[in-house]
Amino acid sequence: MTADELKSLYLGFFQQKGHALISGSSLIPQNDPTVLFTTAGMHALVPYLLGEHHPAGTRLCNVQKCIRTGDIDSVGDPGHLTFFEMLGNWSLGDYFKEEAIQWSFEFLTNKSYLALDPAVLHITVFQGDEFSSPDRESFEIWRKLGIPEKRIFFLPRADNWWGPAGQTGPCGPDTEMFVDTGRAACGAACRPGCNCGKFFEIWNDVFMQYNKLPDGSYVPLSQHNVDTGMGVERTAAMLQGKSSVYDTELFAPIITTLAKLSGKAFGESAEVTRAFRVIADHLRSAVFILGDEQWVAPSNLGQGYVLRRLIRRAVRHAKKIGLGPGFSKAVAESVVATYTKNYPELSARGAHILRELAAEEEKFEKTLAQGLAELDKALEQLKQHGQTALTGRVAFRLYDTFGFPVEFTEEICREHGLTVDQEGFAKAFARHQEVSRQGADKVFKGGLADNSAATTRLHTATHLLHKSLQAVLGPHVQQKGSNITAERLRFDFTHPAKLTPEELLRVEALVNDQIQKALPITMQVMTLEEAKAAGATALFATRYGEQVKVFSVGDFSKEVCGGPHVANTAELGHFKILKEEASSAGIRRIRAVLMEKPA
Ligand code: GLY
Repeated sequence: MTADELKSLYLGFFQQKGHALISGSSLIPQNDPTVLFTTAGMHALVPYLLGEHHPAGTRLCNVQKCIRTGDIDSVGDPGHLTFFEMLGNWSLGDYFKEEAIQWSFEFLTNKSYLALDPAVLHITVFQGDEFSSPDRESFEIWRKLGIPEKRIFFLPRADNWWGPAGQTGPCGPDTEMFVDTGRAACGAACRPGCNCGKFFEIWNDVFMQYNKLPDGSYVPLSQHNVDTGMGVERTAAMLQGKSSVYDTELFAPIITTLAKLSGKAFGESAEVTRAFRVIADHLRSAVFILGDEQWVAPSNLGQGYVLRRLIRRAVRHAKKIGLGPGFSKAVAESVVATYTKNYPELSARGAHILRELAAEEEKFEKTLAQGLAELDKALEQLKQHGQTALTGRVAFRLYDTFGFPVEFTEEICREHGLTVDQEGFAKAFARHQEVSRQGADKVFKGGLADNSAATTRLHTATHLLHKSLQAVLGPHVQQKGSNITAERLRFDFTHPAKLTPEELLRVEALVNDQIQKALPITMQVMTLEEAKAAGATALFATRYGEQVKVFSVGDFSKEVCGGPHVANTAELGHFKILKEEASSAGIRRIRAVLMEKPA
């Protein structure tokens, strides 16, 4: 069974059970600034788990793209991935344990679905603690379905409790389904949840019935929810009898590309196998992050830093198998070709993905060899002096001068049986930040300074500028901030390079063309989904189904925005760009003014 077949079987099954198929959401969570990436389907659904009405109903199913980098150092083994797809079915205050478990059992064992022998299934349920009682109800349901008691395990919170997406929010006990692979147990204590490989976790049903509050307490939710999760890559590999996710059709084109580029065979040695897996995994994740609707570029902050780490780690492993500069392009193209059917955004943003990858690869190529030589020297000295920890000062120099993420330095140290003085690194980092801050600009506040006529005119001009930048530079251009006073507009946007004088002239001319056309500005109220369907640009996080204002400037631009705007572009006069400069990595800044129309 291919991954695609698994997905359509699953979604078809739950649609038959009255679930609406909804689309997965962005890899960047919109409702929760405390997490960098969507790690599970629940992120986008938190408001509905808490009781808000979902426009698609109370039974949903979907495939969600997820990034989990907590185990990034384990990538290279047969099963770990930083990007994966997750199948899920959801009850928002609709059915609860009885139906959820019954349907899980049916999908796993029915001949028309996964047709697993019930005898291979092992189950875990929550054993209870001071916050919540043992989940006897799930235990009984499984028993009624014919799973013998000895194959149902009561396990503690560490195994059978699903926490909130961020620090607070919906959470609850879960029941997990394992397949006994038939491999020998690692010892007498081996049980489902043990990672020796005997038991494979195929699915979990989380019963979201509590809300975790900021003070750490748990209160029962007004509605009982179900949130289940089945990892696509791992389940497909298991169903195909493959011992590694990298041996499935999902990775075949990427592995073939790596073999062609390196002249090495996947599996020829443990080192080659590991390098292939790390590169395949990391660049697959990087492609999905770069292809996401929320524009992320490699940087030293937040999601951008994770992206940078992924790409740089791939570059280092590429060196190990002799891959030359530019390898990321061919690998990324294989990823896009494999996934574009289900994720057309990857093709739509293909040029941007390749450009960013190439730029980051090139940037790191320049300093990697020199940085590695410095690190080797430092490690040699450490060993000579019988020391075991690299100083924070050296780790910081590697970070600051050679672009080595500290985790990367740590990994290399670990390969030599050494560590990094983390505290020393943090101190050196903080010192550096303090120095930078002293010279930095005032904190960017964003938005409009006032509602004066002059500010309003510049606000409308900002919409024209945004659209013109996209028209001239490409659809990757996205607003990253705007600050408008009565005197001037300042607009930050994503673009990897300095604009050429010719590009600036073209942008300016396009804005002025719209002003000359005397286009009317109209406003409509609709839901965010309707706005997106109508082709409107939406810059800020809005909840699903929420009403938004959409401002259209003739047929030229359409943006979700709060206003205010002028009635007609003829009121704007003449648009002039004063300055274009870098704002931060991958972000450019334009300052512009409106002048009286030239004679
Ligand atoms: N059902 C929760 C998860 O696996 O993400």
